[in-house]
Amino acid sequence: MKTILEAKNLCKSFEGTVVLNDINFRVDEGEFIAIMGRSGSGKSTLLYSISGMDRPTSGNVLFCGKDISKLDDGKMSEVRLKHMGFIFQHSHLLKNLSIRDNIVLPGFKAGALSREEVNKYANSLMLKTGIDSVAGHDVKKVSGGQLQRAAICRALINKPDVLFGDEPTGALNSSTTREVMDIINSINGEGTTVIIVTHDAKVAARASRVIYLMDGNIHDELTLGKYEGDEKVKLSREKRLAEWLEKQGF
Ligand SMILES: Nc1ncnc2c1ncn2[C@@H]1O[C@H](COP(=O)(O)OP(=O)(O)O)[C@@H](O)[C@H]1O
Ligand SMILES: [Mg+2]
Repeated sequence: MKTILEAKNLCKSFEGTVVLNDINFRVDEGEFIAIMGRSGSGKSTLLYSISGMDRPTSGNVLFCGKDISKLDDGKMSEVRLKHMGFIFQHSHLLKNLSIRDNIVLPGFKAGALSREEVNKYANSLMLKTGIDSVAGHDVKKVSGGQLQRAAICRALINKPDVLFGDEPTGALNSSTTREVMDIINSINGEGTTVIIVTHDAKVAARASRVIYLMDGNIHDELTLGKYEGDEKVKLSREKRLAEWLEKQGF
């Protein structure tokens, strides 16, 4: 398997307070990683440090074999725009724009495809995620679940190598969480690497590997393997994860 992302001796401090202390880990192409840990354990900081949203204090981050930890801001935002997708707990969609306009905007900005091709791809993403009927709606006029699907479409418009998410289902109820996670599992099944932070064990049980952060380091990790939708297998994964999390003191 090809390594797509690697953190080497990654450290991050804020005003002298160490949050990440010598983190080393590798993510293979096509993996689905869930980062767990208690509140304040540094999950978001780790996600931001490996995705170029923030810079490590020391250490390196290799993305597709290239060290991105020292790129200047302009180069870094280009890597993010063209090769990474981001979703958050609360989607950062632009108000006063339609769902469709929000989705196509990063596609137009990247300029890899013609506007017509971007529009066409946006339509297929909206169809796939079930929001084609609200494409023309203002972002203020759709449900939370529809908004998060739109955020996923927006994150995918430039066909990223990695989709990053910081608590992407944190603001959703359990049935909408399932629907959004079905979409994320399906995207991962098509080959996109996924790395998300979550405190929801049901969400993490859908990952192929779970990483547990404690005291600024990766305390332990659990390999669950490729996710299949089968209900029985799902329950046994959730059980395995629950036992493991208990061992971590979560
Ligand atoms: N920009 C920042 N400035 C100062 N401290 C920060 C900053 N971001 C995070 N921290 C601190 O780093 C620690 C880890 O935060 P965070 O990564 O957000 O944790 P988690 O996502 O696991 O809840 C916390 O103690 C938090 O206060
Ligand atoms: Mg966080």
